[in-house]
Amino acid sequence: MNSNHQDYNLSYLKRYFQQYVPHIVLTILFLIVSRVAATAEPYFLKRIIDFITQNQGAALANNQEIIALLGIYFLTRTGAFIFDFLRDYFLAPVQMGVGRDVARDLFQKLLRLPISYHHDQKTGSLARRIARGAQSINFLLDFAVINILPTLLELLFVTGFLIYLYPVRYGVITFLTVVLYAIFTVLTTEIRQKYRLAANVADDEASGIQIETVYNIETVKIFGNEQMQQQRFADKIKEWFWASVRSNQLFAAISAGQSLILTIGFGVIIYFAISEALAGVLTIGDLVLLTTYVVRLAVPISALGFVYRRIKDGITDLSEMSKIFYEQADSIEAIGNYTLDKPRGQVSFRHVEFDYKSRPALRGLTLDIPAGKRVAIVGPSGAGKSTIVRLLFRLYRPKQGSVCIDEVSIFDIKKDQYYDIIALVPQESMLFNDTIEQNIRFGKPEASQKEIEDAVRLANLTDLIKRLPDGLNTVVGERGVKLSGGEKQRVAIARAVVKQPKILVFDEATSNLDAEAEQEIIGAIRKASAGRTTISIAHRLSTIIDSDIIFVIDKGKLVESGTHKELLESNGLYARLWATYQRIHQTI
Ligand SMILES: Nc1ncnc2c1ncn2[C@@H]1O[C@H](COP(=O)(O)OP(=O)(O)O)[C@@H](O)[C@H]1O
Ligand SMILES: [Mg+2]
Repeated sequence: MNSNHQDYNLSYLKRYFQQYVPHIVLTILFLIVSRVAATAEPYFLKRIIDFITQNQGAALANNQEIIALLGIYFLTRTGAFIFDFLRDYFLAPVQMGVGRDVARDLFQKLLRLPISYHHDQKTGSLARRIARGAQSINFLLDFAVINILPTLLELLFVTGFLIYLYPVRYGVITFLTVVLYAIFTVLTTEIRQKYRLAANVADDEASGIQIETVYNIETVKIFGNEQMQQQRFADKIKEWFWASVRSNQLFAAISAGQSLILTIGFGVIIYFAISEALAGVLTIGDLVLLTTYVVRLAVPISALGFVYRRIKDGITDLSEMSKIFYEQADSIEAIGNYTLDKPRGQVSFRHVEFDYKSRPALRGLTLDIPAGKRVAIVGPSGAGKSTIVRLLFRLYRPKQGSVCIDEVSIFDIKKDQYYDIIALVPQESMLFNDTIEQNIRFGKPEASQKEIEDAVRLANLTDLIKRLPDGLNTVVGERGVKLSGGEKQRVAIARAVVKQPKILVFDEATSNLDAEAEQEIIGAIRKASAGRTTISIAHRLSTIIDSDIIFVIDKGKLVESGTHKELLESNGLYARLWATYQRIHQTI
């Protein structure tokens, strides 16, 4: 186990178990009585055997004592599995309940983690970590309640019972044999595990080489490297061979060692028992009882090596998942509590500095966007345009300076109101695999049918909806694959405008589209921008020439602003961008 897993204290899990205390108490209770019954069972078998050896020739039917013994024997046997059933019956809600509660809280936690955390994750790995962690709770409880605890209890009961019934040595020998067997099993399984892991790694690598070679067979042949690939493969296979052989040989040795320990323990007990049976102190029944216990205890313990390993893996998985609980959640939601009376939609950035982990993105940016205007932000790639949008949507906090709406710091505005005021149509709009209507509703879940229809109209979607056989109920497919790029963007616009935001932001919303689709979107943007502040970020300058104000950004700073005409006249960066843009467009 990696040492840093130890940093993640698992004590927080306590609160998940607290609500199940009655279930846990019952589970443990039934676990104990089931082991008492299991321990008692061989004893009554011994009594039956003793009875038989002492009463040869007696009739079964009318002998009270043997019938009573048989009855009790039968009860202990059924008791053991009925109590096991009750134990599992009460364990199930604990197991599943804790799993459910942890999953629920983890998901909530995930939603609250800052965007920077999510950007740092590999896709899928987070989901895998959570799934494995939640699973591990399940089987850790399983192993504890079904294997480890019962075996331990049985060992204690048997030892105590033997010491009570017979001279102390029988209990002590049984106990020592079982403990020695357990220690031997765990230690040797650990060693064997190393070889198994090595074999698995070599096997993965060997098949990796094979797949890669076949996949790139042309390259291999063009370079004449067949021999080289063959050699690489052969080397890996050799590693696998040795590790596997060692692993199997060790397994054989472990089994032999286990049997040896059992046989020796057994032998010692039988030695004492036989000599005492010959002396008339012990009976045949005693012999059977003593040997039964040793064998019965050894059976669950032979799985101990495996269980032990799974428990270690389980704790690792649990710690990996627990890390997520210890991540610093976003403080943004907790802060804002201010409600704007009548939001107008004026936006300002004042001396904003912002770095992505020491990579400067905005360096003292100041922008003043008047309410109700249609403005554009332009600039070379990497200038910081998308960063402005991310800050405005509170995905990050500026290192210095302030971002305000109607002169109130955006971090002071209450969350519910905030995301009603502003809406974004990004470059690549992610739709959910649901109907068009549901995707639009994501912007305003309680929207009336009329509001949906208005949004559809503003987004230039009316014709499309009419053409589709299922209309608004058309399912868009995974990430919206069943729609064209332009259609997807217009659904995204409808989703943004359905909540009637005061501020509407488009971040390169047309840059992935062809000229025709672009015209549709631009039409939609014009319609949607009436009565609200509209901020368009665009590198196709033709789409923004008629903006009220154009802000030109370079290297995280504002370098110029004005109308298209003014900016051309001042002959700065915008004029150069415009000239380049025109040259490119003439050649197309
Ligand atoms: N998540 C990120 N992590 C680190 N650096 C980033 C991240 N996003 C953007 N950047 C960097 O910040 C700068 C500004 O990026 P961005 O705002 O996306 O530029 P624009 O949208 O103007 O092309 C660029 O240098 C970019 O490489
Ligand atoms: Mg960008």
